[in-house]
Amino acid sequence: MQIYAPNALPLVNLDYRLLLPLVGQANAALARYDGLLQGIPNPAVMLSPLTTQEAVLSSKIEGTQATVDEVLEQEAGLLKGGEKFQDIQEISNYRKALFSAREYLKDYPIRLGFVRELHRLLMNSVRGQDKTPGEFRLEQNWIGKHGCTIEEASFVPPNPMQLPDHLQAWERYLNSDDVDFLLQTAVVHAQFELLHPIKDGNGRIGRILIPLFLYQKRALSQPMFYLSEYLESHREEYYQRLKAVSAEGDWNGWIAFFLQAIVTQAAQNSVRVTAIQALYEEMKLAIQAATHSQYTVHVLDAIFSKPVFRSSDLAQQLLQEFGIHEKTTPGLLRQMKDAGILRELQPGSGRRPATLCFPRLVNLAEGREVL
Ligand SMILES: Nc1ncnc2c1ncn2[C@@H]1O[C@H](COP(=O)(O)OP(=O)(O)O)[C@@H](O)[C@H]1O
Ligand SMILES: [Mg+2]
Repeated sequence: MQIYAPNALPLVNLDYRLLLPLVGQANAALARYDGLLQGIPNPAVMLSPLTTQEAVLSSKIEGTQATVDEVLEQEAGLLKGGEKFQDIQEISNYRKALFSAREYLKDYPIRLGFVRELHRLLMNSVRGQDKTPGEFRLEQNWIGKHGCTIEEASFVPPNPMQLPDHLQAWERYLNSDDVDFLLQTAVVHAQFELLHPIKDGNGRIGRILIPLFLYQKRALSQPMFYLSEYLESHREEYYQRLKAVSAEGDWNGWIAFFLQAIVTQAAQNSVRVTAIQALYEEMKLAIQAATHSQYTVHVLDAIFSKPVFRSSDLAQQLLQEFGIHEKTTPGLLRQMKDAGILRELQPGSGRRPATLCFPRLVNLAEGREVL
C-alpha cells in the first residue's frame, strides 16, 4: 500500500451541481438548530447532557462501550475500578476537552498547539501515557485490520517527515474562508483523518473539531453541535467514504455524505434540545412545588449539569457558588426525593454520603431508560 499524498487545500474541481443543493439544505437545518440554541439562557448547563452523549457516542465509534449513566456514575465517584474504568476516563476527558475548548475559543482561533492541547486532555490517564499525549506522531502509522502489517494496510497516512508541512497547510486552511463553512467543515474533518497526525484519538479529536470550527466561523452561537450520533449509526459508510477519498480521490462523495449528516443530525439535535428545554421548565415548577425554596433555580442548574452526584458534593457546590448554607441542602434533597424527582443510587452509610441521581435527564441523554 502506497503512502498517501494529501491534496492541496482548498480543493479545486468539486462538483458544485451535486453539492450546492445539499449545502443549502445543511445551512438551513443548522440555522434552525442555532435558532433554538440562541433561545437557551445557559447552554453550558442545560445542554450538558448533550455533551455527555456526544462524548459517549464519539468514543463508541471505535468500539468503546460505555453508557451515559456509567460515565456519570464514575464521575460521581461510584465506580472505582473495573475493566471499563480507563475507557470511561477517556470519555470524561472528551467532555472536559469540549468544555475547556469553549473558553479558549472565545479569545483565539483553532491552531495546531490547541489541537495538541485537546489531545493531551483526552489522553490524560494512566493508560494514555503510551499514546504520546499532546504530541503529533514521529512514526509511520497505518489503518487496517487489527495487527496487520503496513503491506496489508487499507490506508497509509503521510510520512512523519512530511507531516509538519501538511499540518501547517491544514491550519492555514482552517483560518481561511472556503466557499461555504459547512463544506469547509467536511474538508477540515476528512483532511485531519487523512493526515492521521496522532498515535491514537484521531477520530475523536477530528470530531471534537467539528463544533469548534463551526463556532469559530460564527455558523453557531455556541460550540454545541454534535454529529457522532449520525456517524456512529452510519459507521460503515463513514469509514468507506473516507477511504474513497484516499483510494479514488472521491471528495464529492465524502462532502455529500457529511452534508447529509448535518441535515439529519441538525433535525435530531433540535428535537433533543427542545425535549431538554421542556424538562428544564417542568422541573423548575416541580422543584418549586416540592421545596418552596428560593434556591429552586440554583438546585435545578446543579442537577442539570451533574445529574449523578454525592449529596455532600452538591452541598459544597451550592455553598461555594451561591452561599447556600450546608444545612439547607439535605432538606431540599429529601423533598426532591419524596417528590420522585431524585432517586438514591447508593444510600449513605457512616461517613459515606448518599449518591443521588436525576433519572429523567440521564435517560434523555442516553436516549433510553437506563436509570
Ligand atoms: N480509511 C480511512 N482513512 C482515513 N481515516 C479513516 C479511515 N477509516 C477510519 N478513519 C478515521 O480514523 C478514526 C480512527 O482513528 P483513531 O486514531 O483510532 O481514533 P480514535 O482512537 O479516536 O477512535 C475513525 O474514527 C475515522 O475518523
Ligand atoms: Mg483508537
